[in-house]
Amino acid sequence: MTTASPVLTVDGPGGSGKGTICRLLARDLGWHLLDSGAIYRAAAIAADRRGIDADDGPALLPVAARLDLRFEAPATADGDVVVWLDGEDVTAELRQEQTGNQASRLAVIPAVRQALLQRQRDFREPPGLVADGRDMGTVVFPDAAAKVFLTASAEERARRRHKQLKEQGVSGSLTALLQEITERDARDRERSVAPLVPADDAVVIDTTGLNVDQVLDRMRELLSRKGYRVPTPD
Ligand code: DC
Repeated sequence: MTTASPVLTVDGPGGSGKGTICRLLARDLGWHLLDSGAIYRAAAIAADRRGIDADDGPALLPVAARLDLRFEAPATADGDVVVWLDGEDVTAELRQEQTGNQASRLAVIPAVRQALLQRQRDFREPPGLVADGRDMGTVVFPDAAAKVFLTASAEERARRRHKQLKEQGVSGSLTALLQEITERDARDRERSVAPLVPADDAVVIDTTGLNVDQVLDRMRELLSRKGYRVPTPD
């Protein structure tokens, strides 16, 4: 039965390292991966294409409810998932800062969140799921086998994002990024429905000053305490 599949939820603010950590853990465990932020981002792009404002709840609702969205597995082990929206490859646009900000705005609307809920739960399939987001442990998978909340200082997150963007050939000011991150955090934390908070039973890991391997080690320890062994790649 699909509902019996174990879920590891990883919540936290943007730039806390969730994306990388979840991708590596899902690969090592051989579990499915849910990048729930990508669903909110795709909804933001779909709205934009239709000329709908990210605050216009009534107009957004049918768009969110009928998202024609498909995730295509990466061609190589460390490649990126390709995201198709209305038959168009939107992978690059999806990762833009502006798309993230629009996604954060529409994510405030309870009916939009509700419309996207089942789509996220459908990712839960054997042998297991690593779920990356803001409300994975609190709302979407409250019965998850293990819950983690990753955090890092806003400055560190802005620096990481700046580096990532630079690697993608996108230039931008660190100060502007820090301000955007701070604003987005406030909106995600202060919204009335499914705000960004650790679940009561989540293990909080501050990744400031930790590298990816150190964070992965902590997650492996947690999972093994819960009875799930994460094979280390050769
Ligand atoms: O993780 P991300 O940067 O791709 O997410 C983009 C925005 O989507 C984030 O600022 C808030 C929203 N979001 C959400 O509200 N709930 C989730 N589970 C995932 C993302």
